[in-house]
Amino acid sequence: MSLPASLPVSLRRPAAVIVLAAGEGTRMQSKTPKVLHEFLGRSLLGHVLTACQPLAADTTVVVVGHGREAVSTHLRGLAPDAIAVVQAEQHGTGHAVRMAVDAVPALSGTVVVVCGDTPLLTAETLRKLTIHHDDRQALVTVLTARLDDPTGYGRIVRSADGFVRGIVEERDADEQTLLIDEINAGIYAFEASTLRAALALLSTDNSQGEEYLTDVIGGLDGGGGRVDALVVEDAREVMGVNDRVQLAEARAAMRDRINHGWMRAGVSIIDPATTVIDVAVHLEPDAVIAPWTLLEGSTTVAAGAEVGPGSHLTDSTVGANATVRFTTADRAVIGDDASIGPYTYLRPGTVLGRGARVGAFVEAKNVTVGEGSKITHLSYVGDAEIGVGSNIGATTVFVNYDGVAKHRTVIGDHVRIGSDTMLVAPVTIGDGAYTAAGSVITDSVPAGAMAVGRARQRTIRDWVLRKRRGSASALAAEQAHLLADEQPTDDTVRATGENGRAGSGDGRDEPEGTDS
Ligand code: UD1
Ligand code: CA
Repeated sequence: MSLPASLPVSLRRPAAVIVLAAGEGTRMQSKTPKVLHEFLGRSLLGHVLTACQPLAADTTVVVVGHGREAVSTHLRGLAPDAIAVVQAEQHGTGHAVRMAVDAVPALSGTVVVVCGDTPLLTAETLRKLTIHHDDRQALVTVLTARLDDPTGYGRIVRSADGFVRGIVEERDADEQTLLIDEINAGIYAFEASTLRAALALLSTDNSQGEEYLTDVIGGLDGGGGRVDALVVEDAREVMGVNDRVQLAEARAAMRDRINHGWMRAGVSIIDPATTVIDVAVHLEPDAVIAPWTLLEGSTTVAAGAEVGPGSHLTDSTVGANATVRFTTADRAVIGDDASIGPYTYLRPGTVLGRGARVGAFVEAKNVTVGEGSKITHLSYVGDAEIGVGSNIGATTVFVNYDGVAKHRTVIGDHVRIGSDTMLVAPVTIGDGAYTAAGSVITDSVPAGAMAVGRARQRTIRDWVLRKRRGSASALAAEQAHLLADEQPTDDTVRATGENGRAGSGDGRDEPEGTDS
């Protein structure tokens, strides 16, 4: 009796999924265990477990060995319910599966085995494998692929009538077998009791002296299709990652898969080849991602926003219709209609309100910026709160650190901070207050006040004519005097007015900030 394909998934749930992840991954040449290498925000093991998750197996067993502490810790974060089984010495894939099977008492039903180093595997393919296996009532169903270059993989040996007879590892294969282009993906569905019995019979009689899981298949009487194979539609899915070249290839393939998915969901990705989006990122339709952009972690981009070119966002939020150009942001929140960049660095805790503008060569950290406020040029803004409609002039520094502790700056609504202001925290600037350009503000400024904190200007008249006689500057000055019909003076110093403007005498008090 075969189960109808329309059966609810719950009735087809495998009893167990076994993930093999004990190997060292020698070819990675790394201190990090192979399955912990990652791309696009997920480890190799994480990618594989994500594919397995929709199978909703009763039990998930991960065989760990090399770097078992690190792998087990990582696994607890990924899948707290999974059982880690330690394979202290790696005596082969068959040995690993036997240890896993022994760890699950009274195992019956379907057992799915996958390798921890096939990160491109999809849930869809695993589902097809288990359904195929159930439908055919097979003892084992092995997932296979046809490859242009089968080098490195075990080859599927079929009899003249097409039935699978065995799997021969590359190292144990003769020339004839090496020509076979159908390979073992290392992914299987087994009938539990058959698997258990066959594992007990494995030997180490092969070139590597290991117990090969693949020998289970050759050991079974495969007549009548009881040993079955499912050829995967897209061979790239079962690519094993054994070295860093393959790691990069897998990343590129996953990058394309993710980008295609978002484009089909209504996101414009101008140059998919230079756009890298982590698995957990979320984008809304009509978001535009411009070239050379990396979106990492839990970053989200709302509808109509434009991110890039050249932006690197980690765990950040971009509001609707915002623009973010040539920007690095880490755990930052960018409000709707905000405009960021180019060359802006938003560090953790930056929260920018609707329509805020943060421009070139501005670094922000742990700051809340109210609606419509602007920090447009060359500033450092840290540990602060800025109200709505305020303008922070060019080259303003929020002096937040006294060498011992960090202090906060609070800026009210509609404040205008003049260019080149040092705001020495802790300091509060009241609503509507102004500060004069070049000020060092050490005391709080009440609402509506103008604070000037700078040395008076001294102007030494005709200093150049006396001290740089004959220079181009002196000649230019003489020329200017002649044209203005002025005589050089002997006045040495002339003080300037209260507002800092030499001799203007017009009484204008201006913060001399920048605004744009
Ligand atoms: C294996 C298959 C090969 C298949 C290929 C697909 C065997 C003998 N060979 O070869 O037919 O084409 O995968 O990618 O099964 N592992 C353990 N414990 C061990 C040995 C390995 O947990 O003692 C784990 C590894 O960490 C890895 C997986 O099993 O995740 C496969 O091992 P690996 O050494 O990569 O096998 P391949 O040579 O690639
Ligand atoms: Ca492998």
